Amino acid sequence: MAKSAFLKSSIAKKYWMALTGLFLCLFLVGHLLGNLQLLAGRSTEAALQFNKYALFMTSNPAVKVLSYLTYLSILFHAIDGILLTIQNKKARPVAYAKKDDAASSNFSSRNMAVLGTLILVFLATHMVNFWAKMHFDKKMPLQMISAENMGQKVNFIVSTNNGLAGNDAFLGKFIPESAIDGKYYFIEGNVVYLQREFKDVNDGNKLKKEKIKIAEGYKDLHKITVDFFKSKGKLFNVIPNEGLVFTIFYVFAMLVLGFHLWHGFQSAFQSLGVNNKFTPAIKLFGKAFSVLVPLLFAVIPVYIHFILK
Ligand code: HEM
Repeated sequence: MAKSAFLKSSIAKKYWMALTGLFLCLFLVGHLLGNLQLLAGRSTEAALQFNKYALFMTSNPAVKVLSYLTYLSILFHAIDGILLTIQNKKARPVAYAKKDDAASSNFSSRNMAVLGTLILVFLATHMVNFWAKMHFDKKMPLQMISAENMGQKVNFIVSTNNGLAGNDAFLGKFIPESAIDGKYYFIEGNVVYLQREFKDVNDGNKLKKEKIKIAEGYKDLHKITVDFFKSKGKLFNVIPNEGLVFTIFYVFAMLVLGFHLWHGFQSAFQSLGVNNKFTPAIKLFGKAFSVLVPLLFAVIPVYIHFILK
């Protein structure tokens, strides 16, 4: 490739990395604000608030568009980062002497590719443990509340509405768990169905089955998250107290994210060609952002594992 074309393609990549990186910073703020609700404890109300928020985030059309933009940004940012690293290695096969490195850069700027790769590994595990469960796990638990009835504890599924077919006797805001027999009443995803048999008078009185949606519940993402960091299970059937391992892993990942943002935030503005009287303020804001956001994220698993009763 001619030198100018090479330069152009590398500038274009940096530009896209900057745009997608800054968009992902916005995502981080939104995600953090949503997740901070987990610090409200594990009462029914606190769980319901978080689960309502999760339902909104996965069903609102505008939020869905933002989610797809986030996935695309992660892909673009990672692929561009890998290509840029390869390009830079080709352009400069012999590494600079250590002395120059230390003078013109810092730990973060020298290790952006490694830090980014570690974040990608974290994200892969994170998506499997939470996002995939929320979106694809047909057996995801629905939120329940417990009530005493004649000295007996009865569980009810919290419905998002008052029952879609209001003529069913027990259908209200809460559906007794005991009613879900798997035969007449069953759950698929977050929907409670009633399966009815009837004789079709229009078809020679043939016995037919009909599946009627009667209510929707809240997927219990709050329980999934709390159980994850509190789990006493064995990781890979070998390492005990996996909740502690996950907590340490998340704190480590947030440290990595902090270092990545430390250089990345201000570097994005540089790549976009912003160089004016605001540059020192942008650098300062970037540093505060890269400490505060990962720190607050890290507080969540630590709180759940060590403090939440
Ligand atoms: C340590 C605190 C964190 C907790 C407790 C947490 C929790 C969650 C949960 C419960 C979900 C599933 C919600 C859903 O699918 O709508 C989720 C999704 C996600 N998380 Fe996190 N998260 C944390 C940190 C992070 C960080 C630091 C990143 C990025 C570096 C991240 C990136 C994502 C992404 C990209 C999704 C998918 C979002 C979407 O579908 O729009 N999370 N997280």
